[in-house]
Amino acid sequence: MFKVNDNYQKLPGSYLFSTIARKVSEYQTAHPDKTLIRLGIGDVTQPLAPAIIDALHRAVDEMGDAATFRGYAPDLGYEFLRDAIAQNDYRARGCEISADEIFVSDGAKSDSGNIQEIFSVDNRIAVCDPVYPVYVDSNVMAGRTGTYDPSSEVWSKVIYMPCTKENGFVPEFPRETPDMIYLCLPNNPTGTTLTKAQLQEWVDYANRVGAVIIYDGAYEAYISESDVAHTIYECEGAKTCAIELKSFSKNAGFTGVRLGYTVVPKELKCGDVSLHAMWARRHGTKFNGAPYIVQRAGEAVYSEAGKAQLAGQIAYYMKNAAAIRNGLTEAGFETFGGVNAPYIWLKTPDQMTSWEFFDYLLETANVVGTPGSGFGPSGEGYFRLTAFGTYENTLAALERIKKL
Ligand code: MLT
Repeated sequence: MFKVNDNYQKLPGSYLFSTIARKVSEYQTAHPDKTLIRLGIGDVTQPLAPAIIDALHRAVDEMGDAATFRGYAPDLGYEFLRDAIAQNDYRARGCEISADEIFVSDGAKSDSGNIQEIFSVDNRIAVCDPVYPVYVDSNVMAGRTGTYDPSSEVWSKVIYMPCTKENGFVPEFPRETPDMIYLCLPNNPTGTTLTKAQLQEWVDYANRVGAVIIYDGAYEAYISESDVAHTIYECEGAKTCAIELKSFSKNAGFTGVRLGYTVVPKELKCGDVSLHAMWARRHGTKFNGAPYIVQRAGEAVYSEAGKAQLAGQIAYYMKNAAAIRNGLTEAGFETFGGVNAPYIWLKTPDQMTSWEFFDYLLETANVVGTPGSGFGPSGEGYFRLTAFGTYENTLAALERIKKL
């Protein structure tokens, strides 16, 4: 009789955003007359920029012509895209990352879930609490997290680094020494971030204790303050301890198009084993590349027209973020984030739990958000709203919340 991977049985409930989608759909079915405003999952609402649409059209035409048709993509991704990434996201910022240290993928979610498989199952992981659930859940599936305590909602072998109002959402070095440290900056879900100096301390710490940092920079395009690093490789020594994951979803609206990349520097080694070689082996074996037309669309993100159009899109979402922060503050809420990230993290009112506030907001204001406790125990009593809605819906949601 075959056996299944028992680790899956340890996962409590379903994936956070699947649970929310189910609850919202049940509510909508029971109340078909209600118009919901969705500020829950961080999904973009603005259409793809014209420069990207043009690139997609051109690439589609190429695929229909025998002279320019393309089949399987090269293992690491097309050079035209990896060169554009290396130039714009790294060299332009003074970071020496070469095109062959960049692995193009179908998105940062897959990479953030998959990257753990090149590490020993004995490794201890450290995560911020609250945290993007994929990091923990994918390690549960791998059998790296020990047992789950439903009352405290913690895994016995995971090292949690609480990020709360009290510590300014800055994780402290844990008492136990981790082997793998997940950092998402600017942060999902709190919308807060670290200064470059604070990030440098993490790089120094990782190099000192021999840990690897899995650095998720999906929200980098939203950084507005000058003392925040745009990539971990701005920090000295990061190439010997950090893997960086990047997404095209939030900076270019590719949530439905799918494109991302991972940087594994050649200097990153465990003894004499190269992590770059391991990820290349994994990529070559298990992945056949993001589609050619999508990689061409990714290249257009770095064109002059693409950059200008996307700067406009980011400004649009950040206008929403400011409206949410200001509107909620006027309504008496305590808010965090939303300055370097498209997420606003708020304290729930009247001691409500995160899920109580979720239900209250859904039923009373018909606004969908994300309960903070879904991201980890330290998220209890907090709630996340996304700035990725349309401006009109964002203002309408705020009007409804102010009337509560
Ligand atoms: C979120 O809402 O946290 C994100 O949209 C999830 C993701 O990017 O996978």
